Amino acid sequence: MGTTGKPIVSITPTVNHTPTSIELDDIEIISDHANETLLTVREQMLLPHPMKHPPVFTTPQLAALCRIERKKVNYYWEREELGLPQGKSMPRSREFTLAEAREWIKKVGPYSAKPEGAKGKKIAVGNFKGGVTKTTTAMTLAQGLSLFGRKVLLVDLDPQASLSALNGVIADSEVKEEQTILPLIYGEQSDLAYAVQPTYWDGIDLIPASAALFSAEFYLPFKQSQNSDFRFWDVLNAGLEPLLDQYDAIIIDTPPALSYVTINAFMAADGLIVPIPPNALDYASSTQFWSLFTDLAKSMKNVVPDLNKRFDFIHVLLTKVDASQISTNKVREWITRSYDSLVLPIEIPATTVTTTASMEFGTVYDISKYEGSNKTYQRAREAYDRFAEMIDQQLTSLWATEAQALEVAA
Ligand SMILES: Nc1ncnc2c1ncn2[C@@H]1O[C@H](COP(=O)(O)OP(=O)(O)OP(=O)(O)O)[C@@H](O)[C@H]1O
Ligand SMILES: [Mg+2]
Repeated sequence: MGTTGKPIVSITPTVNHTPTSIELDDIEIISDHANETLLTVREQMLLPHPMKHPPVFTTPQLAALCRIERKKVNYYWEREELGLPQGKSMPRSREFTLAEAREWIKKVGPYSAKPEGAKGKKIAVGNFKGGVTKTTTAMTLAQGLSLFGRKVLLVDLDPQASLSALNGVIADSEVKEEQTILPLIYGEQSDLAYAVQPTYWDGIDLIPASAALFSAEFYLPFKQSQNSDFRFWDVLNAGLEPLLDQYDAIIIDTPPALSYVTINAFMAADGLIVPIPPNALDYASSTQFWSLFTDLAKSMKNVVPDLNKRFDFIHVLLTKVDASQISTNKVREWITRSYDSLVLPIEIPATTVTTTASMEFGTVYDISKYEGSNKTYQRAREAYDRFAEMIDQQLTSLWATEAQALEVAA
């Protein structure tokens, strides 16, 4: 029985394959039933709540993260004057929390910090096709960068709120409208600082989403029609501007649609990442993405002739690559022919590691100890690490250019 007391409409085919007619009013019964079920399943998924815990690191793992030899960790560890976190002593080893590991990485790792005055870079992850790993890409990139000592802000612009869920935040029960970008959209706030919340992962903050975000799709065009000076495409950009000093990267996850908030994400972005799994359907719809994006760019130029928008980089990332599928090579070749140098020289393998972890609202980086084959885990982890490293190198190079310009101007 559904919450309304009416019998639940049967949505499974009957044995004799007679179609069951469903009236419009019955949709509510299906919805109520699905929501009820989801709530119980979610509780099972998230028990004990909140269940998201960051991984812990052993000494060899810490050495690998800092790119130093294990002996060197012991050497630094003994020199108390360096003030490095000591970790927790375990029966046969030492264990470091994520926050401790990040402190080590920042102090003894090989990564140079963002120069004084340089701004954090906004990276949007987009593709109008659903299920192409936009959200997984945004989350793993944030986690990967944080393990280089970077501070990252994740912005969830999808009313489905999957990125919030990956951070252990359940959209309908834990996120109020005023904790999302909506007050900024409505013009009640001009700076997104109000919406930033810390997450379970040291070095990653989040601006969550909820289903209420759908209303932005009505409000933005409405306000534009009322006020011709309004810049509907620049709202997110303006709200993020005051936060750029505090973060190394701001990663924006977008919904699978060319919506008004997606346009805001693209117009705010310094860099754009377009994940595409190499299968024929995803490839075909990716070409539509570029033609719709072209239409958008043209109409924006018509409305605002002096619009000075440029991207520091646009990358196509091959994801969920299943090398055992015969078609993969063929489609990979089409993608490379279509997008040429935009295609990153790294690809993310299709992996059960990701599929398993997502059952628990997590990614490869959430796993402290993988139960399956270590080789499978390593292969996936290395791909994500290399992807994050490549983006980190671009951030570093953009900051260097910015720092030079600041010096010249001074
Ligand atoms: N490397 C991978 N291998 C196998 N499965 C993956 C991989 N990366 C992500 N997935 C799975 O693919 C599915 C879609 O991923 P994700 O939610 O990130 O896509 P999306 O583009 O954000 O989807 P949507 O358009 O609905 O927002 C999820 O179930 C996710 O766990
Ligand atoms: Mg998504």
